[in-house]
Amino acid sequence: MTRVTPAKLVNMALEARKHAYAPYSGFKVGAALLAADGEVFTGCNVENASYGLSMCAERVALFNAVAQGRRSFIALAVAADTEDYCSPCGACRQVLAEFGGDIAVYMANKDGAFRAATAVELLPAAFALNYPQVR
Ligand code: THU
Repeated sequence: MTRVTPAKLVNMALEARKHAYAPYSGFKVGAALLAADGEVFTGCNVENASYGLSMCAERVALFNAVAQGRRSFIALAVAADTEDYCSPCGACRQVLAEFGGDIAVYMANKDGAFRAATAVELLPAAFALNYPQVR
């Protein structure tokens, strides 16, 4: 299996971005998620006329991977057509944290330049269920 480098994963996110459905914001985002078995799952943002129903590229990629049986991930690349690096929103950080704090996140700009951080660096103290004792 050929190694999926960070640069390659970023390119896959830029490619996935082309499928973004963003007629309301005009802001297209792509994501590419590398699973532990070497498979890559992509996503793009999908907006809706009922704005709040829109879904981010990162969660589309994550849910796509989980729906195909993956639970273990190495890295997530996210890219937009911006000068600045595209940084995942808080909701996506929480969803990513569910699958492990060590996941690398590559935040890319339109040229494929990126900065890296781990999921836990992006969201320290993520919410976790901590059920009260039933007495
Ligand atoms: N968006 C993403 O896809 N990922 C993020 O991390 C932040 C924002 C999308 C949602 C919406 O379709 C558009 O970008 C503008 O907010």
